[in-house]
Parts: sequence; structure tokens; C-alpha cells
Amino acid sequence: MPTVVVVGTQWGDEGKGKVVDALAPSVAAVVRFQGGNNAGHTLVVGGRKTVLHLLPSGALHDHCLCIIGPGVVVDPAVLLAEVDQLSALGVDIERRLRIASSAHVILPWHPHVDRQREVAAGAHAIGTTHRGLSPAYEDKVARRGLRIGDLISPSRLAAKLTMAPIDGYDRAEVLERLAELGARLRPWVVDVPELLAELRRKGEGILFEGAQGTFLDVDHGTWPYVTSSNTVAGAACAGAGVGPTAIDQVIGIAKAYVTRVGGGPFPTECAPDVAEALRAAGGEFGATTGRPRRIGWFDVPLLRRSALLNGLSAIALSKLDVLSTRSEIPVAMSYDGGWPEDLAFARPVYRTFGGWTRDLSACRTRADLPHAARAYVDALQEAIGVPIAFVGVGPDRDHTIDLR
Ligand code: IMP
Repeated sequence: MPTVVVVGTQWGDEGKGKVVDALAPSVAAVVRFQGGNNAGHTLVVGGRKTVLHLLPSGALHDHCLCIIGPGVVVDPAVLLAEVDQLSALGVDIERRLRIASSAHVILPWHPHVDRQREVAAGAHAIGTTHRGLSPAYEDKVARRGLRIGDLISPSRLAAKLTMAPIDGYDRAEVLERLAELGARLRPWVVDVPELLAELRRKGEGILFEGAQGTFLDVDHGTWPYVTSSNTVAGAACAGAGVGPTAIDQVIGIAKAYVTRVGGGPFPTECAPDVAEALRAAGGEFGATTGRPRRIGWFDVPLLRRSALLNGLSAIALSKLDVLSTRSEIPVAMSYDGGWPEDLAFARPVYRTFGGWTRDLSACRTRADLPHAARAYVDALQEAIGVPIAFVGVGPDRDHTIDLR
């Protein structure tokens, strides 16, 4: 079975969870490799909606190991709440969960620091999810953070905590709470790179599930309006602990329009009335924070850049159905002056496509699509230069057209 990386090609919320969930039956493990519970992956199975923030989207598949890699930052309380929530629904996640001992921990004060900084920044705030991601990654890079391996060893935990800056917190209380959380995590803590090597020796398929999107990447995104980790496909190697030769395919998820939450440049952002209509049609509210997402038209230069940064083998185009009922659909086909150093200075050149009014949710083949929808998909594929392998026409698992 192949080793596949799934990444968001825009600013996150492209619908990665649904694609990972659909591919999960053919792999032995789904691995998260960066980010943390800033993500929100919505899965709809049999009409029932489940939002996962930290657990990999293979969670609902009985055979699938759910692996949290070394590059993820883990809020242990959030992880345990998610495990309990799924267990209560009858999902046997406890048997299938694995966590890297070297993954860093989001400590109790990290969300507070995150929120305080954002409030202090006022109009210049990044618009973070306030989940403590940036302070946790900062502590990791500054070499003063705690890792999951520390949490599960009471003596190591006590020693590390003595050195950690925990202003305003009672050290004994923090120690007790973290030791409790660590005791619950202990059965799942493993050497993830070794586990992945073992799966590969057995010829098992592995799926690496990205969080956020390409333009939130700390190096390649719209810095400083980015998240604190690398979100591009290459990060799967470093964040999980496999070499680049292990990756067979990279699937990029692209929404049929574009959304972003938080501040930062957005070249194709559309007028408020159009944005409001598409937001309502697409349910475009943050899965983690509930914030209304900003909405824009499909941006070909962004996708071409994404294809280059991620080495995309194929694209899954999501939420095509949301565009139904628009009589005209503008698409940025290029930027006047080319790709700018700062996306705030991008000058999109639009082409307007004709819309369609038919409900797409029953379409299962290319031939089922209205002519105008087919023309839209074909034009995007040609302009990006990467095959569109799947098209999403509704929220459920089977609302998908397989174009391979
Ligand atoms: P942080 O990751 O919470 O530090 O937030 C940094 C930026 O990334 C903000 O603009 C967030 O809105 C954005 N962000 C973080 N996680 C997600 C996600 O899963 N989807 C979309 N945007 C995200």
C-alpha cells in the first residue's frame, strides 16, 4: 500500500478530514505530524457530525492506528477529553492510539499566554486560536519545554518542572495535575519513528494527515500571519520521523473557493454580501473557534504555488456544491506582475465562469455534473497543472466523485 501525505493547499479548513477518512480503509495508520488542537477536522459519517481537534481522522475506522507524531504539540487534557468523547460513542480508540514520547506538551499556562498576547496586540493580532500553540512551540525551540516522555515519568516530570518558568502557577498543583494526565497517557506512548519503520517493513499503507494549510506554514505562508509549524508536505517526514524516500504520493485538498480565518492578506477575498451568502451555504465557521471564516474566489496562482511547495501528485477539490446557485463564478487565473514577495501586494486577474443551479449532491460520476460545473473543474485542473482526482459534492463520506 502507498504512503500518502494529505495537506491543505490554501489557508486550512479545505476538508482534509473527509478525504483522510475516505482513504483510511486502505491504510494501517493515520499520522498527525504538526500542529495541535488548533486544528478542527470535521467528519460526517451517516449524517452524524464529529469534530476532532487532535486525534487523527482515522479514529472512526476500527482497524486504523491513530498516531500522534513527534512534531505535534499535545494538550493532554484536550486529548483525553477527545478519547473519552469517542469512547462514549462506542469507538474503540484506546486500543489504537499511539503518541510519540518526543512530542512536546502544551502546558497549562500556554493558552493563557497565547490569549494575553493576542489581546495586547489589539489591531495587530494574528487571530490565533488561543490554544497555546505558539508558546508551546517557542518553548520547544528554546529548549525549555516538556515532552510527553517527561510527563509519563514522575521523577523526570518533577525535575523538568523545577526548571520550567511557570509564573503565577502553583508548582505542586501543576506537578500533581500533569502526573495524573501522564499516568493516563502512559499506555499509548511509543517510539513513533520505530513504529512507522515496522509498518513499512510489513508493507502497510500509512497516511500522514496535515493540519492547517500551506499558506499558514511558518516558512512559506503569509508570515507573520501564520501558525507556528511547517504545514507543507515535507514536514510529514520531520514531524513523524520517516525519510523523504518513504513518501509515495502527496494529495492536496483545495476548496472550490477559498477561506481563511484570522488576519493576514487574502488576494481574492470577495465582497461582504457575496461572502455572507457563501459562508451560509458552506457553513464556513471555524470548527475550533466558531469564528466566521473570510471567503474568497478560487485562486489559481495560490494553487500553483502550493503544487510547487508540496510536490502535489493530485488534488481533491472540495465543496463544489457550495457554488451551486451562483450565476457567475470569478476565478483568479493569474496575478498581474507575477507572484509577489508579500501576498498583500498580489493583483489578481479574474476570469468569470458561468454557474449552475442544479443540486450536485447526487452526482457520483463526472458525467453526472452539469456542463458548467465540469467546465469549471476542467479549467482549474488545466490552469494548475495537477490532476484533480476527487471532487466533493456534499459533506458526507459518499458525497464524492472519484475522477481517477
Ligand atoms: P495558531 O495556530 O492558533 O497559533 O493561529 C495562527 C493562525 O493560524 C491564525 O490565523 C489561525 O486562525 C490559523 N489556524 C490555526 N489552525 C487553523 C485551522 O485548523 N484552520 C484554519 N486556520 C487555522
